[in-house]
Amino acid sequence: MTYIQDFEKIITEQLARVERMKEGEAFADFEHMDKIVIGVIDGDGIGPVIVREAQRVLEVLLKEEIVSGKIELRQIQGLTIENRIAQNATVPAEVLAEIKACSVLLKGPTTTPGKGDNLPNIESANVTLRRELDLFANVRPVFIPEKNIDWVFYRENTEGEYALGSRGIEISPDIAIDFKVTTTGGTQRIAKAAFEYARANGGKNVSIVTKANIMKKTDGKFLDLCYQVAKDYPEIKVDDWYVDIMAANLVNEQIRSNFNVFILPNLYGDIITDEAAQIQGGVGTAGSANVGGKYAMFEAIHGSAPRMVADGIADYANPSSILKAAEMMLRHIGQAQKADKLSDALQAAQAEKSMTGDSSGETAAAFADCVLARL
Ligand code: IPM
Ligand code: MG
Repeated sequence: MTYIQDFEKIITEQLARVERMKEGEAFADFEHMDKIVIGVIDGDGIGPVIVREAQRVLEVLLKEEIVSGKIELRQIQGLTIENRIAQNATVPAEVLAEIKACSVLLKGPTTTPGKGDNLPNIESANVTLRRELDLFANVRPVFIPEKNIDWVFYRENTEGEYALGSRGIEISPDIAIDFKVTTTGGTQRIAKAAFEYARANGGKNVSIVTKANIMKKTDGKFLDLCYQVAKDYPEIKVDDWYVDIMAANLVNEQIRSNFNVFILPNLYGDIITDEAAQIQGGVGTAGSANVGGKYAMFEAIHGSAPRMVADGIADYANPSSILKAAEMMLRHIGQAQKADKLSDALQAAQAEKSMTGDSSGETAAAFADCVLARL
């Protein structure tokens, strides 16, 4: 009967988290910071290859600020699968302390051991960092002007299926149970972030995506709360869809350009944003912002691609996604002009360089050279 105690512990912890959320948190004020420290984390697999290029581009873009000491690019070591396994920690304590000393983070992909990898079953570093830094909004833009597509996904980033993803319970050899968590505060803050974005960007439509017909308690609550938040934004058109038909809508050329802003619980957001990124040209092309009150972490939407490393083609990884993340980071810290510059250069490089992900295409370094030439 130990699982009853496990379950009790989970409930107690989640109730405490809800109370902590009610206390709220002050938002970082980059304009008035003496110094902005950007933590740069390589990650695993193709991570070091693409992060190196993003760092090179940032060093040029932020040259003045780095020289004047207003901005520091700080390398953070140790968030590698080797070190995490050696320490048997998803994010080793000293690495987490270094991370928390930064204002924002640019992070390469980190490997998550999966079933059958023959590695210790440590939690995804992403999931741990999102939780530890309370990065509740996962913002993922997908922009394809020639197809009239301008989507921004607001994926809830700390709850849902992920909150207790490593804490499911093996009741008996015959039955396993996982948990999904939806809270009032957790839902309201992601909904508010999405509606604020829609308002600030010319009243774009907002679509809520759930499976509330099946997950009645959690998704039902999410849907109700999103509509409640919507009342504060009467000028914005809102609708809601089940995630299955939304997956179909995104490949339906008749209607997909009608969508603008999406709000999704964690797991649906994970899945739908990979689909959307693929429509844009592949998961290698999409950036991702994980935003909380105090901290924010910017990363490529894709994983560490161990297969590319095994095949000896890591140098051909496409750094677009991490550069897009760098662009989002610049915007977040109040460097909109530099973000625009990077965005233009990135689009030019994408038109010019063929990134096939193997030796038939260009290397990450050649791509970044092209971006640098266009800055
Ligand atoms: C993402 C990734 C992560 C997720 C993995 C690496 C844990 O797929 O950022 O979308 O599932 O959230
Ligand atoms: Mg994903």
